[in-house]
Amino acid sequence: MLFHILGASSLLLTVATAWNTDVHNQIGFMAETFLTPPTTSVLQHVLEPQYNGSIGRAADWADAYAHTPEGSFSYQWHWIDSADEPPTSCSLCYERDCPEGGCVVSAIANQTEILRGCIADVKRGILTDGSNITCSYALKWLTHFHGDINQPLHASGTAAGGNLFNVTFNNISTELHAVWDGYIIYSDASVPRFSNQSIAPFMSSLVSRIRADDFSQPTAEWLACTDPATSSECAVSWARESNQWTCDYVYNQTYNGTDLAISGYAKGAYPIVELQISKAALRLATWLNRLVAGDHTTGQEMILQTDPNWVQKLGDGEQRI
Ligand SMILES: *[C@@H]1O[C@H](CO)[C@@H](O)[C@H](O)[C@H]1NC(C)=O
Ligand SMILES: *[C@@H]1O[C@H](CO)[C@@H](O)[C@H](O)[C@H]1NC(C)=O
Ligand SMILES: *[C@@H]1O[C@H](CO)[C@@H](O)[C@H](O)[C@H]1NC(C)=O
Ligand SMILES: *[C@@H]1O[C@H](CO)[C@@H](O)[C@H](O)[C@H]1NC(C)=O
Ligand SMILES: *[C@@H]1O[C@H](CO)[C@@H](O)[C@H](O)[C@H]1NC(C)=O
Ligand SMILES: *[C@@H]1O[C@H](CO)[C@@H](O)[C@H](O)[C@H]1NC(C)=O
Ligand SMILES: *[C@@H]1O[C@H](CO)[C@@H](O)[C@H](O)[C@H]1NC(C)=O
Ligand SMILES: *[C@@H]1O[C@H](CO)[C@@H](O)[C@H](O)[C@H]1NC(C)=O
Repeated sequence: MLFHILGASSLLLTVATAWNTDVHNQIGFMAETFLTPPTTSVLQHVLEPQYNGSIGRAADWADAYAHTPEGSFSYQWHWIDSADEPPTSCSLCYERDCPEGGCVVSAIANQTEILRGCIADVKRGILTDGSNITCSYALKWLTHFHGDINQPLHASGTAAGGNLFNVTFNNISTELHAVWDGYIIYSDASVPRFSNQSIAPFMSSLVSRIRADDFSQPTAEWLACTDPATSSECAVSWARESNQWTCDYVYNQTYNGTDLAISGYAKGAYPIVELQISKAALRLATWLNRLVAGDHTTGQEMILQTDPNWVQKLGDGEQRI
């Protein structure tokens, strides 16, 4: 823990802190394909106009914001540092591991509650065109954190989430966090470096596989906890899955200075990043769909029942309910 705190502050401006920008964008684009028409309509009013209603476009904002003086308070919301010892013991405990100031679990819970109110405001017609910045931020954070929490090294305290664990990848000296944020995926997609264009086919293939339920773990299991009414509980369960990979794969090998791109390590990790990215996209979409559809705890179902035409308040061309 202390290691991570020291590392995080001294490395603030230099380390990779999340799936790379393009990976975040793409997780958002993948999620968009699973949104219901009402969700798409509502989110368009939550987001600032510059995003044109696209959570994919908005997905990387949180990293840039965390690196501004104004947004630095949110820097630590991008991960949760487990106090465990992979590969011999993995564990993640919210009370123990989420510090004052928050972590990715508390941030998901907090922003979910904020967004819930925002969605109600859209339905009442008092929030349009991204006019409430608190609401746009909540959606952008949630989109981003759904990505982060499914990255194994965002739920691991060892060596500051792997940031201080030096490795070699394709003859480049880097660290393990960056390898999981980007290098493995670029290698899997057979592109030298991500760009939204070059990676699009790879991500589309993941969407097809999600629709075909073609993963080692059935998609129904990914969605076992996706009720925004139990946001902390769900976020902890997702973080635990990520954390478990640090025992099952990330740290279970002998590195010995081998080049991870050619040692077999990257190849062995392909199915893991494919699974985790796909989970992130489907969970994000499901989360947003359920928030917009409403749930029993907030009476939004009542809004849908008593005012089923609320979507028509959203303007012509968007009446797709
Ligand atoms: C904005 O989104 C709409 C609907 O998806 C699309 O038709 C339009 O081309 C987009 N505009 C821009 C500038 O991206
Ligand atoms: C990918 O798309 C997003 C949103 O349009 C943009 O912010 C980002 O700069 C793009 N990245 C690349 C490498 O083109
Ligand atoms: C919840 O998020 C808001 C900003 O959106 C922030 O001001 C507040 O401190 C957060 N609360 C917690 C407990 O993280
Ligand atoms: C913006 O949304 C937040 C969260 O729902 C709410 O607390 C705040 O009052 C809203 N601000 C305005 C100006 O409506
Ligand atoms: C890891 O690499 C960094 C940057 O090259 C270097 O400053 C640091 O001393 C290395 N750490 C270890 C434990 O070798
Ligand atoms: C790997 O990097 C080293 C040092 O930068 C260089 O001397 C060597 O030629 C490189 N090897 C390959 C195969 O690119
Ligand atoms: C590490 O985990 C992978 C995947 O479960 C497994 O194939 C490999 O044998 C493990 N390596 C060690 C040294 O336990
Ligand atoms: C890696 O290093 C350990 C300890 O130095 C050694 O026992 C092991 O044989 C090495 N493994 C390989 C594959 O070189």
